[in-house]
Amino acid sequence: MLSQPQIAAELAARQQNFSLPRALYCDPGVYQADLEQIWYKEWLFALPTAALQKAGDYQTVQVGAFPVIVVKGGDGRVRAFHNVCRHRGQRLCSKTAGNTPKLVCPYHQWTYELDGKLLFARDMGEDFDAGKYGLKRVHCVDLGGVIYICLAEVPPPIADLAKAAAAYLAPSGLADAKVAFTSTIVEKGNWKLVIENNRECYHCGGSHPSLCRTYSDNPKMTAMDGPDSASADILAHWKRCEEAGLPSRFVNHPDYQWRLARIPLLNHAESYTMSTKAAVARRMGTMPFNDAGSLLMFHYPNTWNHFLPDHAITFRILPISPTETEVTTTWLVHKDAVEGVDYDLKTLTEVWMATNDEDRQVVEENQCGILSPAYEPGPYSPVQEEGVAQFVDWYCATMAARLPAGAPLAAE
Ligand code: FES
Ligand SMILES: [Fe+2]
Repeated sequence: MLSQPQIAAELAARQQNFSLPRALYCDPGVYQADLEQIWYKEWLFALPTAALQKAGDYQTVQVGAFPVIVVKGGDGRVRAFHNVCRHRGQRLCSKTAGNTPKLVCPYHQWTYELDGKLLFARDMGEDFDAGKYGLKRVHCVDLGGVIYICLAEVPPPIADLAKAAAAYLAPSGLADAKVAFTSTIVEKGNWKLVIENNRECYHCGGSHPSLCRTYSDNPKMTAMDGPDSASADILAHWKRCEEAGLPSRFVNHPDYQWRLARIPLLNHAESYTMSTKAAVARRMGTMPFNDAGSLLMFHYPNTWNHFLPDHAITFRILPISPTETEVTTTWLVHKDAVEGVDYDLKTLTEVWMATNDEDRQVVEENQCGILSPAYEPGPYSPVQEEGVAQFVDWYCATMAARLPAGAPLAAE
């Protein structure tokens, strides 16, 4: 198990534009450092706002050692709390989702309001001050239909992402959406391998026959700075979309921790379906036409998303162990779309259910190979894997900057 100075040394020694050294993908010390320096400090995508429809609707999220509950209050506001009773520390809610009028601890029934205030604690004596024992808050923001949480005492700035997300997501009408389906799988791979795999489509032709019916694996389409000026088709797509009120051009964080961009699907495909046609008869929000393509949004360390005219798909990853990652996928449709009338669930979900399973297999095989003592870092394709190199650079720079003082300085 590597110490933090040893991790800093690994980061300093790594070769730019090559995959990372083995320990960074499997060592328990690196896993712990990843949790402490990234997962407990960054904003994390928790769930789509549409997953909490009524007061008392909640979901629980486990981020490393921290159980968190996200709950909709009687005032309609969504809040996040540490899912830990203030009496003797019982986990308050063990279910992943549900609805409750109050948050009641199962151990001795201390009872909390949905806004975290302690309402009732039996036989605690006359001097007991309930005001001191409300649930501990976790930072929580709604970025126009996607809820992010942050465990840090002082969270990093999120105003730029909030502004961009509000503008880009607005036409999708996520506040008027509902969850059509959720899938949770565990991939036996380090969380960074899951993100790396998402950041390139070098593997798409070989792995994703269903997705490749509609999604272009041309790396220029999603190049970090946007497609070059030669790509007349995408410029025409942006012009048409923007004239119809859909923000579309690439917008990003200066370090590319996040990015939004609306890209066309292949041959005017409408959705990620086997037929290439829309899966849902009722369009989302104010989406003006069926072939607006997919609004892509990623945010490190834990989410990528596709917002299409007829539905939206959110992806959330959470690390479980050095070599296990949970991937939760949620399909959203217009709240008035009726299953069996406006959409068929299999048609809606089959392409990404297959794609997720295909990605699970490549990530697991990637992890298996990396666990071999024979593994050594290999070079990224400058044409195909720019996104992977960029993620790895972000990870290494973030970790190197945060490892405790006294650690060797990491090379740029
Ligand atoms: S630990 Fe929750 S009421 Fe006792
Ligand atoms: Fe993939």
